[in-house]
Amino acid sequence: MNETPFVDLAVHHSPRDLRDKFALGFTKALRFCADTFFAKRYGHRAIVLETVAAVPGMVGATINHLKCLRRMCDDAGWIRTLMEEAENERMHLMTFIEVAQPTLFERLVILAVQWVFYLSFFALYLVSARTAHRLVGYFEEEAVISYTLYLKEIDEGRSPNLPAPEIARRYWKLPDSATLRDVVLVVRADEAHHRDINHGFASQLAGLEPVGLPARYPEHAADTRAAA
Ligand SMILES: [Fe+2]
Ligand SMILES: [Fe+2]
Repeated sequence: MNETPFVDLAVHHSPRDLRDKFALGFTKALRFCADTFFAKRYGHRAIVLETVAAVPGMVGATINHLKCLRRMCDDAGWIRTLMEEAENERMHLMTFIEVAQPTLFERLVILAVQWVFYLSFFALYLVSARTAHRLVGYFEEEAVISYTLYLKEIDEGRSPNLPAPEIARRYWKLPDSATLRDVVLVVRADEAHHRDINHGFASQLAGLEPVGLPARYPEHAADTRAAA
């Protein structure tokens, strides 16, 4: 069984310069929009936001891949890490789609936001990879907070603690008796790991000292396809 890793909820990167402040300010503005739009509908919130969360890893992987080809240099493991992050976020989406169904309006929002966010994030990454990773670090700080609030909703009986979807049990190697609460715990641990990795990449690009080991990543199945 997959043991749920400890998550330090207090991790926050204090902004050090204008780029960090921009990344934090933008994240807080998006948080306000998400809070206004979804309120406490955490299942719907997870679906829509995971369609966004799965974008930066693939953009970062693509741009680093192309850069390494042009410069004929090593990637120091960044490309696989970022591709894995994108895949992991897509598995979050595939899990929560078993828990809630997006409304037609939410599907239209997903379509529009994907275009805007993909192109904007791609442009940001080209201009400042450091700001792009800092932005993702702050997004992930918010994701950890949101999943903590989702846990509270489940624990206090406002959201049903459904059986864990089969895809989630397989991907996180959870027992048959696992529930939605167990799934939210491992998803939150994933987000904490992404948070630390992206803040670490941003700090590395800024020439700052590493701040320590990233939050431990839960174990995932290597094959993401649903069981036959
Ligand atoms: Fe996620
Ligand atoms: Fe994430």
